[in-house]
Amino acid sequence: MTEPSTTTPVGVVVCQDSEVDVKSALLVEIDDYPIAIVRDSYGELHAIGDTCSHAEISLSEGDVEDCTIECWAHGSSFDLKTGEPLTLPAFEPVPVFALSVHGSDVYVDVTNIINGVSTQ
Ligand code: FES
Repeated sequence: MTEPSTTTPVGVVVCQDSEVDVKSALLVEIDDYPIAIVRDSYGELHAIGDTCSHAEISLSEGDVEDCTIECWAHGSSFDLKTGEPLTLPAFEPVPVFALSVHGSDVYVDVTNIINGVSTQ
């Protein structure tokens, strides 16, 4: 599980902790930028850019397995911690954003891109 943070919240509230089941994803938007909030098989929450790096497909519609999400269009799996595609045809990573849980609120900080991938 993603443990509630004891530090001051950074970013914006995107959803409630209870809204994202294990092995599922929720599409949210911050300033019109689509982000997939994903809970992996181990209960950890992740925030990644929702658009597949191969084409304009929503990753939140894909299957979650272990710490990956699979794009339904052509099957590329992305590591939820690094954003890296683990299988072709995608070869570029998607951005991974800082996420924290405060109480029941899930915060995402779009100014903190953990893997340094541009959102442009
Ligand atoms: S659109 Fe995602 S793998 Fe092709």
